[in-house]
Amino acid sequence: MSQKGIFVVFEGVEGCGKSTVIKWLSESLQSEGYGIYLTREPGGKGSDLAESIRQLILNPENNVYPETEAYLFAASRAQHVREVIAPHIEKGEIVLCDRFVHSSLAYQGVGRKLGQDQVNNINQLAIGKYWPDIIVLLDLDPVIGLGRKEKGNMSKDRIDSEVMSFHQTIRGAYLKMASEDDRFIIVDASQSLEKVKDDVYRLLIEKIKTWK
Ligand code: TYD
Repeated sequence: MSQKGIFVVFEGVEGCGKSTVIKWLSESLQSEGYGIYLTREPGGKGSDLAESIRQLILNPENNVYPETEAYLFAASRAQHVREVIAPHIEKGEIVLCDRFVHSSLAYQGVGRKLGQDQVNNINQLAIGKYWPDIIVLLDLDPVIGLGRKEKGNMSKDRIDSEVMSFHQTIRGAYLKMASEDDRFIIVDASQSLEKVKDDVYRLLIEKIKTWK
């Protein structure tokens, strides 16, 4: 658990709208006077090394084994936590992060079949005490999510390009983790963007206001 600030992470399948919602939320909370730091994984805003590891992981030309993939995400995370997340949390800010360890638990643990326990162990060293306080899951059928990406003509990275059944497995893994952990907030991301923003804001503010 974090110390002074609050560590909020957004998770979900490809095309669930995380980036749009998180950017909007960051601006809304900032305009209300909250100290906010916005970052994302893989990589991390403010860490050159974590960003270099991001390029290695997502490059479609690299043939990356699942074990290598899990370690690379964890290595980038170790740097991101120490260089960026921890200092902002210790300053008392709310850190909003687009993807974090639950992506590894879903994609590498379940999707790549490494097992969630093993992935959890690798990440324990990387994260130390900075596990997320709140996880917002934008739940969406990946058929819709990837369809949105295609429509928007957005380029696909090495992991986006996996078959649909892989993405369905990821969705299932997220829902299972969320059902077993009360740090999760689940929002139905198939609703209109306005409704998704509304739900995220309302549910998150409720949790933040009762914090500590
Ligand atoms: P990104 O371009 O950030 O996509 P998105 O907009 O979906 O967040 O690419 C991140 C990809 O990396 C995405 O397919 C999920 C995957 N990923 C993992 O497999 N494990 C991880 O630990 C993280 C952080 C991401």
